[in-house]
Amino acid sequence: MPGFPLKCCINPSILSADFANLESELALISNADAVHVDVMDNHFVPNLTIGLPVVERLQKVSPVPLDAHLMISNADRWAPQYADAGLNSVTFHVEASDAPIKLARELRARGTRAGMALRPATAVEPYLDMLPELDMLLIMTVEPGFGGQAFLDVMLPKIRRARAAVEGSGVDVAIQVDGGITEETITRAAEAGANVFVAGSAVYGRPSPAEAIESLRANGQRALTRP
Ligand code: DX5
Ligand code: ZN
Repeated sequence: MPGFPLKCCINPSILSADFANLESELALISNADAVHVDVMDNHFVPNLTIGLPVVERLQKVSPVPLDAHLMISNADRWAPQYADAGLNSVTFHVEASDAPIKLARELRARGTRAGMALRPATAVEPYLDMLPELDMLLIMTVEPGFGGQAFLDVMLPKIRRARAAVEGSGVDVAIQVDGGITEETITRAAEAGANVFVAGSAVYGRPSPAEAIESLRANGQRALTRP
């Protein structure tokens, strides 16, 4: 639990949206803080989604900022191109980068917020010294690759340790969680110290995505504000 109230951000994932109608699907979530765009290469993860040309178009038509989650190999080579597309934040996987500090600096130099993601079995401790290089740390709460999986409660201690390190070092690094976030699990993730929540099925799988966002935000903010 952080020492001061953090702002709760809800970033719906378009992985659960209708890929044949992405522009109208984006219009349904205009009350979101950002839209989470899952880029998969069928190599780093066993699934394939969209790439740079589609992301560039989404950037032009989206009513909310884009938050790219790159589940792709060879992040050092490809991630900077997503920064050049003008995205608000670009998150690469540390397991896919040979030089994560260099890459984070390159992303920032190109005018985007630098995010770094950890798969569930990747420990956060080796990376705590590089927090000042990051704007966001993404702690995966499912194995990356597919929407609709169950939240891994076993990740809660990792979120707590990451939050303690962020508070201890005084840096302004958001802690994002992705996978299995629902109106129920968001409370546990927020109590552990996450403040940016990705939700695919819990937004696009509901009759009203906009109402789902408000309900997730209310639960998350309540947990972040509780003394
Ligand atoms: C999974 C993706 C997630 C996914 C989350 O690899 O990174 O962003 O869309 O979907 P839900 O919220 O349904 O678990
Ligand atoms: Zn994601």
